[in-house]
Amino acid sequence: MQFDILTIFPGLFPSFLKESILKKAQEKKLIKINLHDFRLFAAGKHKTVDDKPYGGGPGMILKVEPLYQCLASIKRKKKTKVILLSAKGKRYNQKIAQDLSREKQLILICGRYEGIDERINKYVDLELSLGPYVTMGGEVGAMVLIESISRLIPGVLGQHLSLQEESFSKNIKYLEYPQYTRPPVFRGLKVPSVLLSGDHKKIKIWREKSAIIKK
Ligand SMILES: C[S@@+](CC[C@H](N)C(=O)[O-])C[C@H]1O[C@@H](n2cnc3c(N)ncnc32)[C@H](O)[C@@H]1O
Repeated sequence: MQFDILTIFPGLFPSFLKESILKKAQEKKLIKINLHDFRLFAAGKHKTVDDKPYGGGPGMILKVEPLYQCLASIKRKKKTKVILLSAKGKRYNQKIAQDLSREKQLILICGRYEGIDERINKYVDLELSLGPYVTMGGEVGAMVLIESISRLIPGVLGQHLSLQEESFSKNIKYLEYPQYTRPPVFRGLKVPSVLLSGDHKKIKIWREKSAIIKK
């Protein structure tokens, strides 16, 4: 899977990409992540990427031309989706993550300021929202997509089995059973005895009962 991130703040990403599982996944060449600073595609000495909104109103709007030029410069694979991070988009969830994990390339556009000139939507396949709130930019959204999609790619997680029972794996309403590790008693709080019993049949039943199916 290749992720191409379009942002005017590429400096937000390096430490995020160089730690833990994402770092290993890149080393194993299971994922590739390219950062594109679309400011470099802006015209003029000052490389201005934003301008005042037509019709008036507060804040600044990201111009369409630098983003378009940046998008056009990216080499496309056969299975590619262009995704715009936007509060107005479709609510992101695990099912969408699963579907997107089967693509070959995801191009993620991160907005800033008051958003992006609407005409960018002509070049976008999917507008996705993290939830019903507004963040300062699309970069955290891009990070959420990268983490949630990468871990579904075979080989990225050490134990692919862990994906089978985790929250949302069976359906969007399924929440994983409670998990514990050592010590068996912490400040008087005990681990359920069945989990210490070694009886795998009983443990399985307990876990099935303890998983939550949201209404
Ligand atoms: C301050 S927001 C712009 C909000 C916009 N004026 C509105 O009312 O919908 C700047 C950028 O952050 C990103 N963003 C904000 N909230 C988001 C959310 N809930 N999900 C995904 N991206 C979001 C988008 O890329 C957006 O262009």
